[in-house]
Amino acid sequence: MKIVVIGGSGLIGKKLVSRLGERGHEVVAASPSSGVNTVTGEGLSQALAGAQVVVDVANAPSWEDKAVLEFFETSGRNLLAAEKVAGVRHHVALSVVGTERLLASGYFRAKMAQENLIKASGIPYTIVRATQFFEFVEAIAQFGTDAQTVRLPSAMMQPIVSDDVAVALADVAITEPLNGMVEIAGPEPIRMDELVRRFLTARRDSRQVITDPQARYYGVPVNDQSLVPGNHPRLGPTRFADWLSRSIPKA
Ligand SMILES: NC(=O)c1ccc[n+]([C@@H]2O[C@H](COP(=O)([O-])OP(=O)(O)OC[C@H]3O[C@@H](n4cnc5c(N)ncnc54)[C@H](OP(=O)(O)O)[C@@H]3O)[C@@H](O)[C@H]2O)c1
Repeated sequence: MKIVVIGGSGLIGKKLVSRLGERGHEVVAASPSSGVNTVTGEGLSQALAGAQVVVDVANAPSWEDKAVLEFFETSGRNLLAAEKVAGVRHHVALSVVGTERLLASGYFRAKMAQENLIKASGIPYTIVRATQFFEFVEAIAQFGTDAQTVRLPSAMMQPIVSDDVAVALADVAITEPLNGMVEIAGPEPIRMDELVRRFLTARRDSRQVITDPQARYYGVPVNDQSLVPGNHPRLGPTRFADWLSRSIPKA
């Protein structure tokens, strides 16, 4: 099959492109750095010519409310229109577990808009919603940081490593469209404050995590249901502790 990965140069995109290539598919990694831009439309029709499947794992360069909404709306519209012309048979997109519970954030309103465009497009689709990536824990820490303290809620999470997300997406891309959604998560639940504490300790980062039930997650009040998947998610096998020990250089 010819499979186009939009955002093929990103964290997930790179891993997905190599996975699909290993399975013998013709894979095109499409993104602005390779001359394909879903916002301007540049290079899009050429990249999609003859493609059966498109996997969209692009992300917006700015997460400012207006900019991120504009990115996912414009990108989604252009991409889905080009897919119709090319006769694409399956559109796969990566979204976030709990998106509808996080709409106080402009980023999640934009992801919701992306999902809604896909559902209304008439193109057979599968939306894969993932929990937060292990690689994203550093950004969560940064978000809560004020000088030497990191203020975070203790909301339950179930993060997943990016490699396991790429494996799941590759499986979805080569199977029939669900015209629905699947959720993927890591193997174990862990609270946000504890997750960041373990990350900083492993990094020998001296910042102190303060548990604050009033602290927000990207501006959103969260509880133990906000960020975790529903019943029967697909689970990635990689444990946070194993990823930490292999990804953080020993002193
Ligand atoms: N972070 C998390 O914990 C998490 C959890 C669940 C789901 N997700 C979702 O996962 C997806 C991928 O995230 P990621 O961290 O892998 O992203 P990333 O590493 O930031 O990569 C972003 C990709 O988007 C591409 N891109 C940017 N502007 C584009 C445009 N105008 N047209 C086409 N491609 C464009 C970039 O291309 P260039 O390199 O060429 O600029 C790059 O390949 C996102 O949709 C996000 O919502 C993330």
